[in-house]
Amino acid sequence: MKFFIDTADIAEIRKAKALGILDGVTTNPSLVAKTGRKYVEVLTEIAKEVDGPVSAEVIATECDGIVKEGRELSKIGPNINIKVPLIEEGLKAVKILSDEGLKTNVTLCFNSVQALMAAKAGATFISPFVGRLDDISADGMEVVEEIVAIYDNYGYDTEVIVASIRNPLHIKHAALIGAHIATIPFSVFQGIIKHPLTDNGLAKFLSDYQKIPK
Ligand code: E4P
Repeated sequence: MKFFIDTADIAEIRKAKALGILDGVTTNPSLVAKTGRKYVEVLTEIAKEVDGPVSAEVIATECDGIVKEGRELSKIGPNINIKVPLIEEGLKAVKILSDEGLKTNVTLCFNSVQALMAAKAGATFISPFVGRLDDISADGMEVVEEIVAIYDNYGYDTEVIVASIRNPLHIKHAALIGAHIATIPFSVFQGIIKHPLTDNGLAKFLSDYQKIPK
């Protein structure tokens, strides 16, 4: 399973990278806005910092604009994938961009039939938003399960990025389902390593070691 970090904060990306388990980065306009910095400047810095895929989201909402913006964003670096919203104009653009050999991440996916459409359009990645579904009392992970099954049924290469992750259980369930990637906010990244029994157990081992005759 690949771990991406869901942030545009370069300091968070560097800390996650230092763990040695970072496979890529997803960003969106809301995340870049939090940095208070310029859009392309932030994406350029991130693309240089990580070896793996970096999602850069388009702002245009009609096909021609998305394609134009996608081509521009792809010039930032070879690891950039173009994040496109799952709307009619977006899917048309994904088909054009993928035919040109550019990688895409279809975002704002909320059901498995939308995900099937994205795969048919040639999406490299699909991003179902589990947390936002859970927030409205739907079952985000059920959607992920359906997407993985549908892609397996037909042998689609589109990789499933479980997005809008809120807690470690989302990661566990995504892994059990066999989703390819989880994109994880920094706060959750920190939480998945720590366990109080690990900390207590380590403290006991270290104190008992002191009792051993030297
Ligand atoms: C990632 O691709 C998404 O943009 C992100 O996970 C959305 O997360 P949120 O629902 O917490 O904003």
